[in-house]
Amino acid sequence: MSSKLSTFICQNCGSETSQYFGRCLNCNSWNSIVEEIKSKRSNYQEIKNCKKSIPFNEISSKKISRFTSGFREFDRVLGGGIVPGSVVLLGGEPGIGKSTLVLQSAGKISLNEKVLYITAEESLEQVKIRWERLNQSSINLKIFAETNLSLIIKEIKRLNPSFAIIDSIQAIHNHEMQSSPGSVSQVRACSSELQNLAKDNNIALLIIGHVTKDGALAGPKTLEHLVDTVINFEGDNISSHRLLRSIKNRFGSTFEIGIFEMLEEGLREIKNPSSIFTNKENISGVTTTITNEGTRPLAVDIQALVNKTFYSNPRRTTTGISINRLHQILAVIEKHVGIKLSEFDCYIATGGGFEINDPSSDLSVAISILSSLKNIPPLASCSFIGELGLSGQVRKSNNLRTKIEEAIRLGIKNIVVPKLEDELNNNFQNLIKIKEISNIKEAVDYSLSV
Ligand code: TYD
Ligand code: MG
Repeated sequence: MSSKLSTFICQNCGSETSQYFGRCLNCNSWNSIVEEIKSKRSNYQEIKNCKKSIPFNEISSKKISRFTSGFREFDRVLGGGIVPGSVVLLGGEPGIGKSTLVLQSAGKISLNEKVLYITAEESLEQVKIRWERLNQSSINLKIFAETNLSLIIKEIKRLNPSFAIIDSIQAIHNHEMQSSPGSVSQVRACSSELQNLAKDNNIALLIIGHVTKDGALAGPKTLEHLVDTVINFEGDNISSHRLLRSIKNRFGSTFEIGIFEMLEEGLREIKNPSSIFTNKENISGVTTTITNEGTRPLAVDIQALVNKTFYSNPRRTTTGISINRLHQILAVIEKHVGIKLSEFDCYIATGGGFEINDPSSDLSVAISILSSLKNIPPLASCSFIGELGLSGQVRKSNNLRTKIEEAIRLGIKNIVVPKLEDELNNNFQNLIKIKEISNIKEAVDYSLSV
């Protein structure tokens, strides 16, 4: 038995209502609601194929055998490779290099596994041109250029690959629905059908979705709860560096990053990422911190420029750290170092614009600001780690051991850190000069004395 159901879906935020409204009750956007006819199968029909519940001890606990994506950096972000039957959403701005990344990866995977690349945006000839540019050797990768969801599903079923790629979810459409490709309802309906197909047949599925900076295409955002893993591909148009960042991962840790460089012949992994975010110059206003992104320590320069202001409200801008963090650090300096900063503009930029979320970079930001203000270079070959408390104390940092090890690996001679446990201190004797401090004043006296 089947019945036709009508629902009204906001094309901006995806919320559903049972009647039409001129303005969405959830996101307040006007004229964004569209009627959708859903054909709903009766629950009774499904009873025939119904599975039974089982006790835990009957579940076989075989280890998941992942396969590699062909890139060590990509594998790291996925939590150690691709899990069969998992659904990964790869988001990013148009033109950032998503198709390039997955085509290179598909080429490498297809040397060992059956891979299907579904291109809904580009023609077969266009993909071939890219393929030749990328210098790929595999002859087994199957390509399918199609936008119709039913034909795509048919082809996936026929080929039964281990890995399938949809490029991109905004370009495919389900003919049973009236809304246009790329709308929230199309994106959601197509993804959930593809996801069911992947789970039932143990096919690893990678879905590409375009996301713009201002979130104008909200489609892929509404998918995040549906899929197993959400990865973002980031970068800017000026630099050639690209960052792969995991935002959600059911099979690994989140906030893991992978770093690539976009070259003429495709993407290349960066083996020593710390080298691209640091300059190793000893000039005023620049310090180096070691931050933690996922499980990896990374050295990043923090640059500050402090100038006398010409405005009634001094200017404060940041690239790579949040503006609120800067305000807080400035307030701590005013109160606990006793330097009045209200007459100064303050600009902060991280090396390569790298986005830092680890609060242990606070100390480095503070020392850069004071170094620029006083026009004194900080202590040579020194990095700074520590979160600034509101009372001026320097608080403990996560994973301090791996951060110190990274500094040693990079040949840094001095490191300023929060108070250590004895066991940690003994481990690093002779390898690096460690200065333990308990508040910001001590750090300033140590690193900025002439
Ligand atoms: P693309 O993968 O098409 O981006 P997306 O799928 O995210 O929209 O990448 C497009 C950009 O990458 C384009 O500006 C050209 C550049 N590019 C290279 O620099 N080198 C290459 O080898 C390739 C294939 C693309
Ligand atoms: Mg593309």
